[in-house]
Amino acid sequence: MSEASSLKELAEAEAECRRCPLWRDATQAVPGAGRRNARLMLIGEQPGDKEDLAGEPFVGPAGAILNKAMADAGLSREEIFLTNSVKHFKHEQRGKRRLHKRPNAGEIDQCRWWLGLELRLVRPKLAVALGATAFRGVAGRPGRISDLRGRVLDDVCEVPVFVTVHPSFLLRIRDNRESAYRQFVRDLEACGRLAA
Ligand code: URA
Repeated sequence: MSEASSLKELAEAEAECRRCPLWRDATQAVPGAGRRNARLMLIGEQPGDKEDLAGEPFVGPAGAILNKAMADAGLSREEIFLTNSVKHFKHEQRGKRRLHKRPNAGEIDQCRWWLGLELRLVRPKLAVALGATAFRGVAGRPGRISDLRGRVLDDVCEVPVFVTVHPSFLLRIRDNRESAYRQFVRDLEACGRLAA
């Protein structure tokens, strides 16, 4: 596919993706979801267990905290395009459980193809990289979230990019969880203003 003319066409092409081996163990590719003319695109890492089964991004525990933070920041999920930098769920089977495995640089770089098509189709005013995998997905190079957080980068892809943490970081940390959550909400508020 050189360019997609609709989100449906793009999702159909992603469903056939064999650019890296992750498709083999996943239930399905999980395409981005939301309005084609969204002003804000939020980019996560990869689908988790729940997203792999549902075929939709951010419907599991990370999605629940993201939904809450978006609502607290005055953002409505209906107005946002949500996607991931990697479209298939990478995991390891442990008995009945499927444990998340972080995608490697090669997998993220192969999947940039799809992210680029989504960005060109939706053309949001602002893309938000949620965490280091998302940053690599948009930028094609590694970056440290602690160095990049809160900045708007104009030179990494087709549209300006704001960098913040991944919502699952808020589920993992033990100390200062409330203040980390408030900082994340402030980041999303800033994104809402930048995309207005
Ligand atoms: N984490 C992500 O990065 N994306 C999802 O869709 C779900 C969890």
